[in-house]
Amino acid sequence: MSEQSLRWHPETCVIDEKSGAASSTLASDAGFVRACKLLDDGGLVAVPTETVYGLAADATNPAAVARIFAAKDRPSFNPLISHLPSLEAAKTHGLFNDAALRLAEAFWPGPLTLVVPRHPSSPIADLTSAGLDTVALRVPDAPLMRALAYQLDKPLAAPSANRSGRVSPTLASHVAEELSGRIDLIADQGACRVGVESSVVQCADGHPVTLLRPGGLATDDLERVLGAPLQRAGTNDQTPSSPGMLSAHYAPSVPVRLKASRIEAGEALLAFGPDLPEGAEKAVTVLNLSPSGDSFEAAQKLFASLRALDRDDVSGIAVAPIPDAGLGEAINDRLKRAAHR
Ligand code: TXA
Ligand code: MG
Repeated sequence: MSEQSLRWHPETCVIDEKSGAASSTLASDAGFVRACKLLDDGGLVAVPTETVYGLAADATNPAAVARIFAAKDRPSFNPLISHLPSLEAAKTHGLFNDAALRLAEAFWPGPLTLVVPRHPSSPIADLTSAGLDTVALRVPDAPLMRALAYQLDKPLAAPSANRSGRVSPTLASHVAEELSGRIDLIADQGACRVGVESSVVQCADGHPVTLLRPGGLATDDLERVLGAPLQRAGTNDQTPSSPGMLSAHYAPSVPVRLKASRIEAGEALLAFGPDLPEGAEKAVTVLNLSPSGDSFEAAQKLFASLRALDRDDVSGIAVAPIPDAGLGEAINDRLKRAAHR
């Protein structure tokens, strides 16, 4: 397929804020109609969300979901997030306890994924949830993804639209580089606003509310709404863990060195804040995630910066220390995986 027929630039994406239904203009957009038809037929469409680009397919169609795993070279024991147009729709797929409801009402639509027990009548395919008795649900703050799920009247399974093990895409060009020829359409709406994947929180009675993956919401904000500290995944036998939290993930092809206080000749420098590490002038190239030290700006630029510094002419990427505050926890989580060999 030509690059031209693969890309779609949606014009306006106006939806009904409560239900997620497309406006009449969006519903009659030829690209939108084509995307719906592809999804209905079991195809794969890359759709931006406020966090990263997702690779969407009908979550209830096992053949379509199998195509996602194949396109990404992703191990099929790693379950996928199902995207819904509204909390009302999400409640038909998962069982929401008090904590889950409180989080959903506070943060949806937004960069939060809730792992909850599967609703007995949910048609989400076993392959989507990797045979678990829980489902991962999210109402994204991305009108197009919500409108597509509403129109299809099905949840959309969507992992990040990258090859497995690579950093998540925050631009349509990142998706095209890794998945052209393997997917049917890319909706191009420019750069993602948040830049790191959603925070994943598990809520099930009998277990502490557990942060499976730090992400686009600051953990402090989640804890404020819960009124209690979150457990961290895998910290003890009572806390669940997430199959997707493999230690090597999000990896550039050159070595990544964290908390670098001095730069060696030949390295690329990924800086943060106004002060550069010692020897910064020796770096082959320098990118600063946020010269003012703002973790939200840094998250937005993280993955595109890692891709840009992953060059043949550098011996490795040295990353300046980044505090854990705000989105720093999610950034440091992704960097730790990028540095794992
Ligand atoms: O921001 C995001 O979350 C993006 C956009 C596209 O929504 N999606 C994304 O999906 O990052 P993915 O597949 O790359 O990450 C999903 C994570 C994985 O770590 C997976 O193991 C975990 O969610 N997960 C999904 N279902 C789960 C379940 N039932 N129990 C525990 N973890 C689950
Ligand atoms: Mg991913």
